[in-house]
Amino acid sequence: MKNTSIFKKKICECTKCINLVKSRSLAVPGYGYPDADILFIGLAPGRYGADKTGKPFTKDASGKIFQTALSLSDMSMEPNGLDQREELLKAYVTNLVKCNPRDEKGNNRYPTSDEVENCLEYLHDELDLINAPVVVPLGKLSTEHVTGRKCKKLSSLHNVPIRMEKFWCVPFLHPSYVARGAYSRETYFDDFRSLSKFVRDNK
Ligand code: URA
Repeated sequence: MKNTSIFKKKICECTKCINLVKSRSLAVPGYGYPDADILFIGLAPGRYGADKTGKPFTKDASGKIFQTALSLSDMSMEPNGLDQREELLKAYVTNLVKCNPRDEKGNNRYPTSDEVENCLEYLHDELDLINAPVVVPLGKLSTEHVTGRKCKKLSSLHNVPIRMEKFWCVPFLHPSYVARGAYSRETYFDDFRSLSKFVRDNK
């Protein structure tokens, strides 16, 4: 059985970024099945969601869309949940940056490049240990870090698989984009269904 507790402890005790240590309620490591078929990578914990719950993509607007998309496409990130049907795909969910970045008014802000750099070692630990056959960066910044390429327009890469050395990378629009009405919810849920089929065919 893979043991995620070593890097979870490192993340929870991390004090590399002075501003994030001040703004976060807690550091948020990834969550889900250690032997996942699919690994999702968001941006950073949101102040109304993961920063309070300690689980990526829970409670806030992005989390609600993400959780709905998972359940509609037969994916689960609940290794200890009640619903452990055999046919469910196993998911693991993490963020590029593990602490909630806030501006001086207390609102969510984008992580700085130094904050992303500081946190990359944890993402690499997660990618190596989980070793999922399909990795889905959610949003532009996560996509750039997983593919190692600058990306001008994420919409042209959305749901288009890219073969990387150790896994398939399938960039996706971030759920916050859908939450603010820039992309149709129904289409996003359909995209998750096609992603689920892709994972089943490639795991
Ligand atoms: N919640 C997360 O955990 N990550 C995001 O990127 C957004 C909301």
